[in-house]
Amino acid sequence: MSENIKDKVVVITGASSGLGAETARHLAKAGARVVLGARRLDRLQALATELGLAKDAAFQVDVTDREQVKALVDHAVRLHGRIDVMINNAGLMPLAPLEMLRFDEWDQCIDVNIKGVLWGIAAALPHFKAQKSGQFINVSSVAGHTISAGGAIYSATKYSVRVISEALRKEVKPYGIRTTVLSPGAVDTELPGSVGAPGVNEAIADYYQHNAIPASSFARCVLFAMSQPEDVDINEILFRPTVQEL
Ligand SMILES: NC(=O)c1ccc[n+]([C@@H]2O[C@H](COP(=O)([O-])OP(=O)(O)OC[C@H]3O[C@@H](n4cnc5c(N)ncnc54)[C@H](OP(=O)(O)O)[C@@H]3O)[C@@H](O)[C@H]2O)c1
Repeated sequence: MSENIKDKVVVITGASSGLGAETARHLAKAGARVVLGARRLDRLQALATELGLAKDAAFQVDVTDREQVKALVDHAVRLHGRIDVMINNAGLMPLAPLEMLRFDEWDQCIDVNIKGVLWGIAAALPHFKAQKSGQFINVSSVAGHTISAGGAIYSATKYSVRVISEALRKEVKPYGIRTTVLSPGAVDTELPGSVGAPGVNEAIADYYQHNAIPASSFARCVLFAMSQPEDVDINEILFRPTVQEL
């Protein structure tokens, strides 16, 4: 599963923990040149050190800020001369019933999960067009395929990722760009920590503790999608823990 990965320049948002960090480990091992983005620079720098990368592989970015996401991608291109894969992974999951009116969480969830992905697309697309190659890997969720009580805002953002990705897929045909959506079920990361609503957070933490699978499950999907020959475009992967019903 490591064909077509060595030396590829891969920008990963949300690389400071969870799925993004684990994917960086797998990609670095397969010989990709990874550039790590997130807000917690100390975490990114520790990961860069762990992976034997230069310090400048870590780049502080808040994906809600369009200019910062552009700066991340431009940094990668300056370092490596190109960008081959943009993994729009940063996200949060503030599950809560609408009646709780947790407005700040609604704003943040929309800004990170939707606009963050849009800014990632906007930053990488001009480079991909110029190169006539590239791959977007946008992270949705099982919640981008199913809707639960308490999941209105999160599901809305994750359905949006699929909608945006499908339109993008059709639009970029002339440029040889590939577009992949990955939709995980419960995977063991720090994500339950983004559930702030009292009562809901304990339930989600408990669910994850008993059902979540390791982050390597996600990383292997990324490598699978990337490693296909350039004329094969893996558009959607939906996976769950075997025990997960939802
Ligand atoms: N784990 C699961 O069960 C699961 C299931 C379905 C989908 N997903 C999706 O997978 C993606 C990764 O989540 P995870 O499970 O790996 O959770 P995680 O361990 O909490 O990681 C989330 C990452 O997003 C980053 N992030 C959050 N807000 C950001 C911002 N404003 N700017 C830049 N980075 C930001 C965090 O970094 P900083 O805090 O350092 O900025 C962190 O690196 C998310 O899109 C999530 O919705 C996860």
